[in-house]
Amino acid sequence: MSDQAKRGGVAILDFGSQYTQLIARRVREQGVYAELYPAGAPPETVNALDPRGYILSGGPNSVYAPGALQVPGYVLASGRPVLGICYGLQALTHALGGRVAPAQAHEYGPARVTLRADAAPLWTGLPDAIDVWMSHGDRVEALPPGFAPLAHSDNSPYAAIGDPARRLYGVQFHPEVNHTPRGADILRNFLFEVCGCAPTWTPAAFIAESEAAIRAQVGDGRVVLGLSGGVDSAVTAMLIHRAVGDQLTSIFIDHGMMRLGEPEQVVETFQRQFGLRLVAVNASEAFLSRLEGVTDPEQKRWIIGEQFVRTFEAEARTLGAVAFLAQGTIYPDVIESAARDRPDAHRIKSHHNVGGLPMDMDLKLIEPLRYLFKDEVRKVGAALGLPEDIIWRQPFPGPGLAVRCLGEVTWERLERLRRADAIFIEALREADMLRDGTAQAFAALLPVRSVGVMGDTRTYAEVVALRAVTTTDFMTADWARLPADLLARVSNRIVNEVPGVNRVVYDISSKPPATIEWE
Ligand code: XMP
Repeated sequence: MSDQAKRGGVAILDFGSQYTQLIARRVREQGVYAELYPAGAPPETVNALDPRGYILSGGPNSVYAPGALQVPGYVLASGRPVLGICYGLQALTHALGGRVAPAQAHEYGPARVTLRADAAPLWTGLPDAIDVWMSHGDRVEALPPGFAPLAHSDNSPYAAIGDPARRLYGVQFHPEVNHTPRGADILRNFLFEVCGCAPTWTPAAFIAESEAAIRAQVGDGRVVLGLSGGVDSAVTAMLIHRAVGDQLTSIFIDHGMMRLGEPEQVVETFQRQFGLRLVAVNASEAFLSRLEGVTDPEQKRWIIGEQFVRTFEAEARTLGAVAFLAQGTIYPDVIESAARDRPDAHRIKSHHNVGGLPMDMDLKLIEPLRYLFKDEVRKVGAALGLPEDIIWRQPFPGPGLAVRCLGEVTWERLERLRRADAIFIEALREADMLRDGTAQAFAALLPVRSVGVMGDTRTYAEVVALRAVTTTDFMTADWARLPADLLARVSNRIVNEVPGVNRVVYDISSKPPATIEWE
């Protein structure tokens, strides 16, 4: 898909660094397509991209260790530019006849490197010395023939090396992380000055090519999609709708555990505003009756996932002959599921998406966002005209409020939670803290009652916990330092406006050891 926009991109070979995904993001931010491949991927798989150059990522091993991943022969034989980063630099050195050995002083963290003034084009536009992020235990001791040092630090005589004639470069530091403030300039120089890439990777190009690809794949067949209201499924729906119009039917299942006003907003946006063929199913009763008496979090998740698939399948069957199932899978999901199949890769996070995939229907998958990062999905969403509150919607778990309604999930408790949550979210929106300042914020209803006093009356009512976190990757998170007066206003409004709640607490746990959700 999207061959034109991908043309002129680069291939990133993954040697196992935790930063490899970041390299791809940094490259794409320059408007150049980048795709990740395991370092040992078959040459034909990697070269199907017809890359303008190769980037070799960092990695946790030593290049001289038995069985260590090496630079593939086809990369060296290609005559195309190569940039080795950290392990990538060492692997390049090792492969081309230089020497890598354990360093006496390991370099972890910030360092300052002095750049050789005559080392254009990699340093074009950069000052004489820059701050970088180092993370290595081995170092280059002897350069391969043809290479020259391009930069040094106190601990590394070869902080960067290159053989400009062969367009082979290596940097010992990590230009892809924020701690290397001028890293983007280095990557830009490599892409445009060394590889001769063109900035063709834009939302508009992606949209145009996705449309053509979807049309070619679907022909006159019909497509079904599960719309959740989140940005990934929303952008998927919009793209497919643009490509094949009413051949797409989107199914939105309201399981009764959405937030206040959410089901209405989904219908309003996609059906009325954008004219999608949308089947909105109110399945609250089916879900809630199966959840009766259930308090165990895992059991809740399982029941909801299973009921979701059942409901989706039943609706999809009423549509008649459907050939395709569209899904909003994005690149990090693809990378993570690939990582799960590789014994040497570190598992990043466990995925717990709810259903959506019909179990025994014979459908072909369409996943137009398969190669996009989240920020790219948002840019495409904006280019497609989706409203801001969908594009910037905070993540919401598939099982919805069920995992925030601790204890038994009843309609009455859900309503209580919905109202408390809406008050909190409204206050954050007014304070401009929904997009900046919190990555995820919500209310949870606790399965305890506490004593309170209202007027002259003793109350014995439920407790609401407010949770707001800052994070970029959702794997670790810190509790958001919300202003005390904002919390005071929210607390006051909740106990006054939500019957059945007499106490509000703020969750000050980080992840780990807590998780973001309460269940
Ligand atoms: P935790 O609670 O594990 O959550 O720190 C990390 C992120 O994942 C979201 N989450 C889910 N998303 N289905 C989803 O699609 C789920 O079952 C689910 N559980 C948690 C959570 O909201 C947070 O963004």
